Amino acid sequence: MSLEKMDDFFDARADGYDDHMLIDLALEDFYEEIARLVENEREDFRLLDLGCGTGLELKRLFEKYPAVSVTGVDLSKKMLDKLKEKYPNKKIRFLYGSYFDLSFGSGYDVALSTYSLHHFNEEEKLFLYRKIYASLHENGVFIEGDYIADSLEKQLFTLSELDRLKQEQNIPDGEFFHYDIPFTAETEIRLLRETGFSDVKIAKQWDETAIFLAKK
Ligand SMILES: C[S@@+](CC[C@H](N)C(=O)[O-])C[C@H]1O[C@@H](n2cnc3c(N)ncnc32)[C@H](O)[C@@H]1O
Repeated sequence: MSLEKMDDFFDARADGYDDHMLIDLALEDFYEEIARLVENEREDFRLLDLGCGTGLELKRLFEKYPAVSVTGVDLSKKMLDKLKEKYPNKKIRFLYGSYFDLSFGSGYDVALSTYSLHHFNEEEKLFLYRKIYASLHENGVFIEGDYIADSLEKQLFTLSELDRLKQEQNIPDGEFFHYDIPFTAETEIRLLRETGFSDVKIAKQWDETAIFLAKK
């Protein structure tokens, strides 16, 4: 299998992306649950969405909180263009680039990431979790919904497969190519606690997906 650069991978799939997620993978329930879990006493709170893509996670959220201010970060221009087309009248700040490199500011009430962070290893995730932690308001919450591995063996196997493929294809460290490396729920919880989040729990779990709630 030939690895594709992350932005090229999602640019090439932006057109059929929503149908793939909602029809082929039937993920409506997941996005509904995400919107249910995002809670804030203010109507116009600030939400950071990491790897927002076409914004499937925002549809119900905008129905629940029409005045929410969203900062959406994504490195696929085509995915961001889809999001822009969908919500021309919403308060969205678009940040085009990698969330590893961009500074997204601070004082967010909620940080959210859905189906984006299962592409990164422990070191990369910890780096990002620390950045997310620093970007949150003192009572802020991070909600992460993503694929999970059902065993540590699987987690370690996909990690080693990615290393093998990168070596075979002469891909230097630090360059992001698309390959799924989901972690077990236990690993996720450990990393979020290691970051400093005080209260970390699984809010909802399906076979291959979980939603984690981490309070600052
Ligand atoms: C599977 S899509 C999920 C999109 C959306 N959150 C959803 O649930 O439908 C993963 C998204 O993460 C983005 N992404 C991957 N790595 C990224 C990075 N380093 N910085 C910013 N966005 C990234 C991709 O471009 C893609 O749009």
